[in-house]
Amino acid sequence: MTAFPLEPIEKASVDELRALQFKRLQSTLRHAYDNSPVYRAKFDAARVRPEDCRSLADLRKFPFTSKADLRGAYPFGMFAVPREQCVRIHASSGTTGKPTVVGYTKNDIETWAHVMARSIRAAGARPGDLVHVSYGYGLFTGGLGAHYGAEKLGLTVVPFGGGQTERQVQLIADFKPDIIMVTPSYMLAIADEFERQGLDPRASSLRLGIFGAEPWTNDMRAKIEQRMDIDAVDIYGLSEVMGPGVANECVETKDGPTIWEDHFYPEIVNPETGEPVADGELGELVFTSLTKEALPIIRYRTRDLTRLLPGSARTMRRMEKITGRSDDMMIVRGVNVFPTQIEELILKQAALAPHYQCILTREGPLDALTVAVEAGPGLAHDGDDAQAAADRLAHEIKVYIGTSATIELRPSGGIERSLGKAKRVVDQRRM
Ligand code: DLL
Repeated sequence: MTAFPLEPIEKASVDELRALQFKRLQSTLRHAYDNSPVYRAKFDAARVRPEDCRSLADLRKFPFTSKADLRGAYPFGMFAVPREQCVRIHASSGTTGKPTVVGYTKNDIETWAHVMARSIRAAGARPGDLVHVSYGYGLFTGGLGAHYGAEKLGLTVVPFGGGQTERQVQLIADFKPDIIMVTPSYMLAIADEFERQGLDPRASSLRLGIFGAEPWTNDMRAKIEQRMDIDAVDIYGLSEVMGPGVANECVETKDGPTIWEDHFYPEIVNPETGEPVADGELGELVFTSLTKEALPIIRYRTRDLTRLLPGSARTMRRMEKITGRSDDMMIVRGVNVFPTQIEELILKQAALAPHYQCILTREGPLDALTVAVEAGPGLAHDGDDAQAAADRLAHEIKVYIGTSATIELRPSGGIERSLGKAKRVVDQRRM
């Protein structure tokens, strides 16, 4: 069957794109100021008005929005339309306190389905494909976001959701999906379950996996592609900005998610000073929505660390695969460490499995990092091969990251499997 065609905007010139963004930015700022008391107060406090935005570069005059703003307006206080005009509410749980609540008008749901359909197409979906969705349904945006996008593209969707790993494998074996949409960590748990049932994961019908909702490295991509014999493509998004489908990798390049810039305007800022940095420089990703109605989002601080890269498969800019969230950054005896850095080193050791957790404890006045990791399939965790790999891992962490870590080898299944986002950092210092 022929492939799905690209939309005209995906092929537009940079100038056309910037003109569209500017027009949409002006109306978003106006809409936020006129209809959301929270934004009005924030703009007034910063002494800016929507009409002060005379070019895209003027966006930097406007104040940031953070999770605290949304929490402060809990549950619906930041909405720029009456709650009655929302057709859907989602919420992200967070680790503490109240959830962050987001709302969508009918048009917002339409826009979201549209960018998700575009994402799934960029990931390599073809007409006629069957999609197995293992992202959680419910308040989390993953399941329903994937679902509406796949339906909009005209694919067949199996809305499985998270959990019941045994049955996931049974249905994948029986329904023969072409595509799976799931967190990368839960993909690994599903792959393990295939093997437990005596099935070869490489022999499954799956051709493509669309993975996101948590950081994962290119080494993890290689591992999953090899284990499942599929293409593994990165999907990025966050509930405050929309949900999944803010950016998606193109399968032909796999070089970082393309940001759907006609709907979400990206900036990178220095996380300490908030000053915008040039494209190509590392910093915190900030988004401004360009078409949202219920919850326009102005300069939202994602806490995700990455850099903006020039377009490749599309004119729109890409973001580098996320290194980590500033929230996940561990500071161990003064050294900044991200779980993804540990992941890269674990994946170099054939005798270790890619299931791991970083545990932080306090030894007297000092921080201590323990990396709990499973021995590779079929290997004893107290055997020589696993022990030698653990020693090499400790050495590489010291050399490449610059901090000491104790490696705790666990038997297969010794790290709790996530059904959605994996918990990579367990901080026992504050317990
Ligand atoms: O995780 C939305 C989503 C669902 C994205 C399914 C992709 C697939 P939240 O629960 O609000 O929304 O969490 C958003 O997850 O700020 C990142 O820190 C992280 N994240 C999401 N996608 C990626 C990714 C969904 N591809 C937070 N790589 C974001 C790295 C990601 N981190």
